[in-house]
Amino acid sequence: MRSFLLIGLLFLRASAAEEIVPSVIAYAKAHAEGDVTASFRAADYRGDLSDLPIGVFDSGVGGLTVLEAIKSHDRHHNLTGEEGADGVPDFVGERFVYFGDQANMPYGNYSAAGRTGFLRELILRDALFLLGRRQARGEKPPVKAIVIACNTATAYGLEDVRAAVKAWGLPVIVVGVVEAGAQGLAETAHGAQGGVAVLATVGTCASNAYPKAIAKVTGRPVRQLGSATLAAAIEGDPSIKSPVRDIIRADVGTFLQAAAADGAAPIDTLVFGCTHYPLVADEIVASFAFWRDYAEADGSKPYAQLVASQLRQVNPAAWTAETLWRSLQAAKMMAKANPVTGDYFYISVPNPAWKGIGLAPDGSLNYEFKYGRSEGQVDREDTIIVPLRPDRLPGATSELVRNKLPLTWQSMQAVR
Ligand code: DGL
Repeated sequence: MRSFLLIGLLFLRASAAEEIVPSVIAYAKAHAEGDVTASFRAADYRGDLSDLPIGVFDSGVGGLTVLEAIKSHDRHHNLTGEEGADGVPDFVGERFVYFGDQANMPYGNYSAAGRTGFLRELILRDALFLLGRRQARGEKPPVKAIVIACNTATAYGLEDVRAAVKAWGLPVIVVGVVEAGAQGLAETAHGAQGGVAVLATVGTCASNAYPKAIAKVTGRPVRQLGSATLAAAIEGDPSIKSPVRDIIRADVGTFLQAAAADGAAPIDTLVFGCTHYPLVADEIVASFAFWRDYAEADGSKPYAQLVASQLRQVNPAAWTAETLWRSLQAAKMMAKANPVTGDYFYISVPNPAWKGIGLAPDGSLNYEFKYGRSEGQVDREDTIIVPLRPDRLPGATSELVRNKLPLTWQSMQAVR
């Protein structure tokens, strides 16, 4: 009896998961005027889309590292398109719409909570927000491309977003960070022979998206370091009390301990498989150095042979920019007119008016509510999307963006 019940439950879950993409596709198709939140105006996607902005989304503000990489990308001559920097950013004529789904982050913890289906629905709704015109305080422009700037969202939702865009018949380009990161590893760390450490969220690690993508381009051994708290700590989550540096040091220590016990290959390359990690790249490299030099009471150094003295760093963001450039060029969709307005920035916040919402004392969604939700309600509005002004960034994050992402910071100043 119990096993019948279990099989029945498993079947229900499986069929619910299979319904996610079709139900979101059907919902948006039923609202072809873009009259509800999770929808777009079909008429916006007829004709030449080249002068529409490029959409970029992440689970929070970490994806601003990807936006910065796109804005600063200069690998081609702008007039001829030929390889070679010309001192003018390749996307100089483009506008961007950035969205950080901060109310629902961390995305990296939904898989451990058994809510992968709900995460996939969130990701499709993020794409719909970019495609549509609606936001809580007025209109936003539709987009010609969607950059999934979040590794976790790429791992769980890239194929879903591509399938949905195809089913809606939209000539919109969809790019994710994971394949770009693997390609970046193959190209930048050319010549490196040692092991690769992919640092990512627990969810990205559980999906195995990076090991699979890397195996397609190189045979080098890959180990994953999944952190449950680092991205949220970088984002300034007040519930995380440990300083970022301590979290990194503990995570890297645990990772190296397991690697040493397994007799893993020496590591000489780090892949930042989470959008937030390039912001603390120096601390991450310093932690590997700390453990490489760490000595036990008897003077032995357990990790000295496991960590190379020079670590190569791969930031998938730069490679995502290149993939986007190539895709827009191939589709002849680079902007033709010079932009008349700047970029747009949005962020999700809890909607206190939503019935049954669970809020923490600081006003964010509480854990039980956030990770207790299931797919199947495309029209839910427990969070709403508002403009991301620089003063909405938590203090520490604001400093990081100001110091490390200057083009993005400058562009954000115009947000009202
Ligand atoms: N932006 C996410 C990523 O790149 C990490 C943060 C999260 O867990 O939401 O994987």
